[in-house]
Amino acid sequence: MKYSAPRGTVDILPDSCEKWEKLERILRTVASNYHVREMRTPIFEHTELFNRAVGDTSDVVTKEMYTFADRKGRLMTLRPEGTAGIARAYVENKMYALPEKLTKVFYMGPMFRYERPQNGRQRQFHQFGVEMLGVESPYVDVECMMMALTVVKALGLKNVTLHLNTLGDADSRDAYRAALQDHFRPVLGELCSDCQARFDKNPLRILDCKVDAHHPAMKSAPKTIDFLTDSAKAHFDKVCELLDMLEVDYVIDTNLVRGLDYYSHTVFEIISDDPKLGSGSTVGGGGRYNGLVEELGGPATPGVGFAFGMERLMIALEGADEEETAGIDAYVMPLGDEAKDVAMQIVAMLRANGFATDMDYASRGLKGQFKSADRFKAAYSIILGEEEVQGEFVQMKNNRTKEQTKVAFEDIVKTLEKGLGLE
Ligand code: HAM
Repeated sequence: MKYSAPRGTVDILPDSCEKWEKLERILRTVASNYHVREMRTPIFEHTELFNRAVGDTSDVVTKEMYTFADRKGRLMTLRPEGTAGIARAYVENKMYALPEKLTKVFYMGPMFRYERPQNGRQRQFHQFGVEMLGVESPYVDVECMMMALTVVKALGLKNVTLHLNTLGDADSRDAYRAALQDHFRPVLGELCSDCQARFDKNPLRILDCKVDAHHPAMKSAPKTIDFLTDSAKAHFDKVCELLDMLEVDYVIDTNLVRGLDYYSHTVFEIISDDPKLGSGSTVGGGGRYNGLVEELGGPATPGVGFAFGMERLMIALEGADEEETAGIDAYVMPLGDEAKDVAMQIVAMLRANGFATDMDYASRGLKGQFKSADRFKAAYSIILGEEEVQGEFVQMKNNRTKEQTKVAFEDIVKTLEKGLGLE
């Protein structure tokens, strides 16, 4: 039997891992620039958490979750997104009681959604996400959007646009919901079966439908902005005013509702027109979720955040300069069985002294071993055959200058330090 990786998953091989590390480094730098600290939550959670948080009318919960019963029959789900786990952990660890009112965290890691795999869409994918909890202020919405845009800029992503909308507060949403039902009721029979189900439960979701996206009723649908309460409108106006003040370009997109149920007020997406991603592709999105923490049993706590799909960021990075693979400090080349034992001890000693070191285990001749030293970009080759072992010395070759010298065992570390300029 031949095994292959499950559909929608990929192996990230060593060369790509170096690019991933580069991406992660850039993201960590932006996070520290915004004074946002890392937080890690479990890869699986109780299924009920996602039903509650993400919402049982969302596609993510109804169609895309990887759910299984554990050995005691409890339903568990591989996390399809990060916000629910962060909000759960925030409540469980009483982070709302921390002296700082605003908690700002980021996370990076795998997420799982049973979707049809295509360019930039996988079943196991990665997100870089940010959550800011504890302060209800349009300034924090803008802090989030600015951070998302800084990520985009730091990665050199071109042709991206910030799309923005507001869903308002609970009262705005109720009024809007009723207006949407009035609007779609006459054409309900022409919409897909999903939309017909959404009509009663969550008519907002109709605007998010991929199947009915081109139905004429979509374009003429009422806009959230026209149903805002005064305070919801003031919040959104301030967000726009702050973005204007910071000279950020954005587009108000009244059909932007996002696919998850926890949002209220500001929602946003960063959409790329990079042909490598497929035009109009969403690289990241987020918004405010003021009811979520309370829904999960915590005190009323506002929150806002966003997440980027890291595969999509990687595709965008692809054009960037190739990373130089870092070389090792020394490659130890034994000739003969006896030399191998000693080589292993030298390797252990060099590693203990902090040098990145490797050796040949394949019993090859000198030529093959020198080729490896070259491929590994080793600064030094350390050669030892029978004569060297007897005499307790090695031949050390500086692979840059090609100079080769005889060095006693006890002087190897010193010679490396000197040669690498670490003295
Ligand atoms: P989301 O829009 O569902 O939001 O996902 C965020 C990003 O994850 C998407 O824009 C996309 O780049 C990436 N993504 C989603 N599904 C896939 C997939 N199957 N393959 C590859 N990439 C994918 C959230 O998850 C929210 N938790 C964001 C948030 C944080 N809102 C507030 N705080």
